[in-house]
Amino acid sequence: MENKTVYLNGSYLPLNEAKVSVLDRGFLFGDGVYEVIPAYSGNLFRIQDHLQRLENSLAGIRLANPFSNGQWQALLQPLLTGIGDEYIYLQVTRGVANKRDHAFPENVPATVFAMGSKIAPFPGRETGVKAITLDDLRWSLCNIKAITLLGNILHRQAAVDQNCAEALLVKDGMVTEGAASNVFAVIDGVLVTPPKSKQILPGITRDVILELAVQNKLACCEETFSLPVLQTASEIWVTSSTREIIPVVELDGQAVGNGKPGPVFHAMNAIFQAYKQSLSAVSYQS
Ligand code: PDD
Repeated sequence: MENKTVYLNGSYLPLNEAKVSVLDRGFLFGDGVYEVIPAYSGNLFRIQDHLQRLENSLAGIRLANPFSNGQWQALLQPLLTGIGDEYIYLQVTRGVANKRDHAFPENVPATVFAMGSKIAPFPGRETGVKAITLDDLRWSLCNIKAITLLGNILHRQAAVDQNCAEALLVKDGMVTEGAASNVFAVIDGVLVTPPKSKQILPGITRDVILELAVQNKLACCEETFSLPVLQTASEIWVTSSTREIIPVVELDGQAVGNGKPGPVFHAMNAIFQAYKQSLSAVSYQS
């Protein structure tokens, strides 16, 4: 195991020394929330947006935010090497209670854990990936980035079992998102993604793509669409902080478009990469 330095409850320590009680509510109940924040050349990407989503997730589970945004940034920065593409994983749980009880404990400090990792290049960005569709079996508060991820895990594993990179989820006939990603489709020449709701995680990468599409005058909108409509899409992408934009070239065994990453993907991926570069360049100078 790589013995990097991680943060746990006020200390920086080697990963193999970072230990949490078995009575931690994260362990017993999955009672906590998390964030995944990319960093390029040591610059935390869209940090204010990630910290706002963390704040919203904490509010969603009625847990006080232990830190201000400035404190979070100071805490996370030492976990980065500053070289290449990395990401921070952080989680906050409701802490260690002295007995197992579903209701919240009183006067228990939150458990805060964070670590940095390299983002390995994802070859599927060049070639495209295969995906399956599945009934979305998750709960009704998918806007909260909860560590309780059993639904997502079972969906993703079902995809992996079929040699696919992602499962696209369908709730009441409408496409929601991927097991660990948001979904975009090019339908009649327009880039479409489902609107924010309690059925999807409000992805930061999703927001960036919508902003960049508007700035670059690519036709786009936020609208719900059904599985049969998704099946007519000329392009499908999945997006996340660690994989960025990934074209789906096969859906449930059928080619998407001509079975290759499409022109709108190539255009948006170039715009996204240029945007990433511009951010690193700006803070190098400062
Ligand atoms: N997951 N939807 C779900 C269910 C996700 O788990 C993720 C990301 C996204 C995309 O959000 P963002 O663009 O902010 O990364 C959408 C992270 C990467 C994870 O769980 O590892």
